[in-house]
Amino acid sequence: MSEKIRVLISEEEVENRIQQIAAKISKDYAGKEIHLICVLKGGVFFTCELAKRITVPVSLDFMSVSSYGDDTKSSGVVRIVKDLDQPLIGKDVLIVEDIIDSGRTLSYLMEILKGRNPNSVRLCTLLDKPERRVKEVKVDYCCFNIPDEFVVGYGLDYAQKYRNLPFIGVVDLDRE
Ligand code: IMP
Ligand code: MG
Repeated sequence: MSEKIRVLISEEEVENRIQQIAAKISKDYAGKEIHLICVLKGGVFFTCELAKRITVPVSLDFMSVSSYGDDTKSSGVVRIVKDLDQPLIGKDVLIVEDIIDSGRTLSYLMEILKGRNPNSVRLCTLLDKPERRVKEVKVDYCCFNIPDEFVVGYGLDYAQKYRNLPFIGVVDLDRE
């Protein structure tokens, strides 16, 4: 079985939209510093492109989580695989994610991070599939709402492949 990738959002569209969101974030955080938390691995391409376009001071940290459950359905209980290097006390935290699907991972992660006494916590995602939401999560910044389709590229993978595609594509399974 092989897959074909169909372009859903082009590289140019993604980059233009990231520029817009970065400008909005820079305005909202004027006079402050942002502590960006990249959720590995999917969030890494978006985090870099976003951070480069933010004009207020930025510090960066990385976290890796995996949800208990099978591959297609997360249970909502998140295991921290790699924790942050730095404490969050008093910081203005902006979590950067690749995609919000059921919302389970992020709602759990938000609770964990809020418990570390930051000054504020907001969420920025490249993609959102609002139709799939099971657990409510407040998305402060979203580049694109997309339909309920499995997407890859710009950090998102299918069986660990395609993260490096510079656009967002839909995976079409070719079963011949
Ligand atoms: P949830 O919001 O807890 O359901 O899980 C979100 C996570 O599922 C994301 O961080 C991705 O790792 C993964 N995910 C959900 N939808 C997709 C998709 O369309 N392509 C690739 N990964 C996805
Ligand atoms: Mg993810």
